[in-house]
Parts: sequence; C-alpha cells; structure tokens
Amino acid sequence: MSILSGKHILLGVTGSIAAYKAADLASKLTQAGAQVDVILTGAGEKFVTPLTFQSVTGRRAYTDNDLWGNEAHILHVTFGKTADILVIAPCTADTMAKLAHGIADNLLTVTALAAACPILIAPAMDGGMFDHPATRANLAALQSHGVLVAGPAEGYLASGLSGKGRMVESVEVLGHIRNVLGKRGKLAGKKIIVTAGGTQEAIDPVRILTNHSSGRQGYALAQAALDSGADVCLITTPTALTPPVGARVVCVKSVQEMLDVLINESADALIMAAAAADFRPKQVAKEKMKKRDGIPQIELEAAPDILKIVTSSPLGAGSGSPAGKKRFKVVVGFAAESQDLLENAAEKLQSKGLDFIAANDISAKDAGFAIETNRITLLFANGTQEILQLMSKTEAAEKIIEHTARLLE
Ligand code: CTP
Repeated sequence: MSILSGKHILLGVTGSIAAYKAADLASKLTQAGAQVDVILTGAGEKFVTPLTFQSVTGRRAYTDNDLWGNEAHILHVTFGKTADILVIAPCTADTMAKLAHGIADNLLTVTALAAACPILIAPAMDGGMFDHPATRANLAALQSHGVLVAGPAEGYLASGLSGKGRMVESVEVLGHIRNVLGKRGKLAGKKIIVTAGGTQEAIDPVRILTNHSSGRQGYALAQAALDSGADVCLITTPTALTPPVGARVVCVKSVQEMLDVLINESADALIMAAAAADFRPKQVAKEKMKKRDGIPQIELEAAPDILKIVTSSPLGAGSGSPAGKKRFKVVVGFAAESQDLLENAAEKLQSKGLDFIAANDISAKDAGFAIETNRITLLFANGTQEILQLMSKTEAAEKIIEHTARLLE
C-alpha cells in the first residue's frame, strides 16, 4: 500500500464501543507504513486505553492530559499542520455536534478546529441517535464544511437493536482514507475502466463454463487507480472479493454482458484484466439438463473478442462525443499463456490494438490464477519491454497504473 507509506495520520478515538475497531485501524495503517498519532477523548479512554494504541502504532497516544501538559500550546496546531488527514473513528453524536458548531473543549476537538488537512469521520451511535434531527443537521453542517463521512452502516447495534448507526469496518475506513490521500494523484480527473474476474457462460439454468480467475489482479488494479486519484469503474464477474471503496461497480457474468456494458462506455483508459471466455455454448438449455436424458453433447461457438471490438469501434454520434473519437485513449490487455509467452503476447498486443500488454506465464507456480503473486512482462506498442520480477499483485497493479498514467500524460 504505497499510498499510505510515510503518511502522517491523526486518528481521533471517541467514546463508543466501536473504539475497539479503531485499534485494528491503527494497526492496519501502521503496517501499511503510515505514522499514526492517536488522540483519545476522555470518553474514548473509557473504552480503550492509550497503551492499546501505543502498542500497535509504536508511538505515544495522546489524551486530554496533554491538552494541559508542557507542549499544550503547540500540540494541536502542530498536529493540524503536519497531518495528511485527521480521521475520527469512531465519531460519536456528541463529537459530531461539537465539530459542527466549532466547539473545542478537548484535545481532539481543538485539533480538529485547527486542522488544515482533510477530516474524515466514521460515525458510531445508536440508530435513534443517528436519526435524531439534531444529529442529521450536524451531519449536514459537517458535510457543508467539507468533512468527509464514512458510514454509518446498518446492522446490529450495541443496544441490541438493529438499525443504521454501526461504525463501518476498519477496512472500509482504510479505503476512504486511501481515496482522500490519492485525490491529487497522477490520474486525478481521469476515468479508468478495469474489468476483473472470470466470465461465466451458461450451459443451462444450473451449470456454467468458467475459469480459474479470482479477480485479484483486476481488483488490485482498480485500487491502484483509485490511489492515483482516478475515477474508477470496475466491471466485475462474481468473485469472493470486496470491491475497493470509491469504485463504481458494475456486475456482469458473461462475455456478452461485459461487452454490452463496455460498448456504452468511454474512458481515458481501459484495462482488460478479466479472463473472458473464448468459447461459449451455442445453445443455452432453458431447463436443467437431466441425467436421465444421457450425457449431453455441448456444442461451443466463439465468444465475442471484447478487446478487438472495442478498439476497432470508435464512439458513434449520440454518445456525447464527436463521432469517430476513440472510446479509450489507452487500452491495456493481459495475456495469460502457458507456452511461448512473449511471442503470443506480442501477437495479441498487435491484433487487439493495445497500447501495452501484461504477459503472464500461468504455468509458473508463483504467477497467474488465484494466488497473491504475479510474474509479468510488459510489452509496449513501441516495441519496448519491461520485465517485472516476482511481485505481489498489488505491486504489479501499481506498476501497470504508473505506465497507464505515463501514457496519458
Ligand atoms: N479478451 C477479450 N475478449 C475475449 C477474450 C479475451 O477481450 N473474449 C481479452 C482479455 O481480457 C485479455 C486479452 O484479451 O486482456 C487476452 O486474453 P487471452 O485469454 O490471453 O487471449 P485470447 O485472445 O483469448 O487468446 P487465446 O485464449 O487463444 O490465448
């Protein structure tokens, strides 16, 4: 997560049972290379101790005692100036009310008032408190002041009731933090479409033809593009993964559905990481095929080649863009190969009209489908190549996004 590496994050923790989630958030941020300074309110300290945060961040955690301590006169101003973001998670109704009205009666609220950095809050309270007109008005006031809000989520509440008021999980807060930190990245103002996952071609209402793609590389690309400030659309087949926070997600199953979505889209870049089918059943049985009818003979036909179609069909009139304009300024493909990796990838680069292709040896144990690492060679339309050593799919995604951004410059 290079987006978080070296970033200074101020984490405010207020008095809610969801404070335990803040310890996990502090730990995740620290593991990702951020410097995390925690400020607890008096009520926050009742739920989790400063020691908990010190133990996970390796830095001292601050409390209201510091508001009156030796550094008191500068602490809040220094924090407010040096932090890249102030995150208040959990943020109680009381702290929301104070922030909305500029009340500064503890170290956290004084710091928030002095902060020059973006502020993100993750509200946590009982459903009735969140629905109260006073809280609603405070929320609206905070948003009008530019405060960003993550959640709250619906679900089980500490009161035993169910409703809207749960603090969102720490991974989701982390996603919002990444969105804020990436905002002014190299892809700010650019729209990137990423496809991910293995397509599913129906045989009958029960059975499908699919492949081993997990969607990991595509999801990592969507996250890396968000980290660079892009407006991201993730077109995905069903996977076990959670889409990155901030991406517009379009769910599809078959190659045809993916094509139908893409044919109506345009963007600065298209990154086709999906493992799209080459063949599909010629006929889809309307009813479930029964054993008693014997072993079926399934005739296959060619599925449409999405990349070939979208790179050879410019935008038509009526799409809001001048007729003949390219749908995508940069198009990136993947080549999953089990033999003759570079020759096959070079042929696809050319025949599919790509700007570059990520060639991926799926016969290697540490590369390809359903694992965390990849071993990729990038082949560019200008004939150059770049070998990426064995790396995580996250790192590979960051490299591919860097090249995409360079081509869009
Ligand atoms: N692709 C596509 N439409 C398809 C199949 C593949 O747009 N119906 C895209 C993939 O998303 C990938 C690139 O084409 O970015 C190469 O996919 P790959 O499966 O490696 O190659 P194919 O063109 O399908 O050729 P082959 O399976 O014969 O290697």
